[in-house]
Amino acid sequence: MLLLDGKKLADELKSEIKTEVDQLVSQGKKQPHLAAILVGTDGGSLTYVGHKVKACEQVGFKSTMLHFDSAMTEAELLQEVAKLNADPDVDGFIVQLPLPAHISADKVIMAIDPSKDVDGFHPVNVGKVTLGLPAFVSATPLGITKILERYNIETSGKHCVVVGRSNIVGRPMSILMSGQLPTGNATVTVCHSRTKNLKDITLQADIIIAALGKPEFLTGDMVREGAVVIDVGTTRVTDTTSKAGWRLKGDVKFDDVSKKASAITPVPGGVGPMTVVSLLLNTLQAAKQKL
Ligand code: GUN
Repeated sequence: MLLLDGKKLADELKSEIKTEVDQLVSQGKKQPHLAAILVGTDGGSLTYVGHKVKACEQVGFKSTMLHFDSAMTEAELLQEVAKLNADPDVDGFIVQLPLPAHISADKVIMAIDPSKDVDGFHPVNVGKVTLGLPAFVSATPLGITKILERYNIETSGKHCVVVGRSNIVGRPMSILMSGQLPTGNATVTVCHSRTKNLKDITLQADIIIAALGKPEFLTGDMVREGAVVIDVGTTRVTDTTSKAGWRLKGDVKFDDVSKKASAITPVPGGVGPMTVVSLLLNTLQAAKQKL
């Protein structure tokens, strides 16, 4: 069984990005600049944005973190988005999700300038990706694509089963896997909460992408011998033995499934670090498009 080490791969990619940034700066160009808006104090979101800011420092990007109280109104947030859209120093920015219930995430995403939408959530970017045109691909699907590419996992003609249909992962992933890309050309089945006989379908998969957000959902009996398994889950479960009082669990029952899989991503250290590095790749692309 091959462990698909997202942490190691993310470190390699960060070092490649840093080399490019150093070159840009030595040519007198400005540092790429990523900004992040965070509203409220959701523990997961605070951690994720913290990782993103730290990763910016590691590769020589400038970063700005804008943290607002959860009582902020939708109109106030839209104003902050407009300011970042207009700021010539900011190459790309993200609004961390989820947002408080009184703010429409759709409205906020649609207010982002697509040329600065390094999360790839704006309909213009989603539409372009769907048509196979150059655009910002959302970070988690892009990270998974990089794992498949760098580990030389054959996808052409394979049956890829995506479990979960979220706008952030499942849906864009299914489009990338079926598209005409080096890591595409797969036959894709998208499964979700209304899917009947899920196990019959996952047992036919050469590649399984588990992105439904239910800890240890995918068990060994649902996986064919030799399948490639990508675990996108990051649920915090209570763990009194850990210092934080919780630990991360993926959507895959790792001990069980790793005995069947030919290759598998761990949690933590699999898709998570690749999501962060993909955001850096999109920001570098945004910065270079302006040169
Ligand atoms: N919440 C969970 N994943 C993401 C992500 O990739 N980007 C943003 N902005 N919010 C998220």
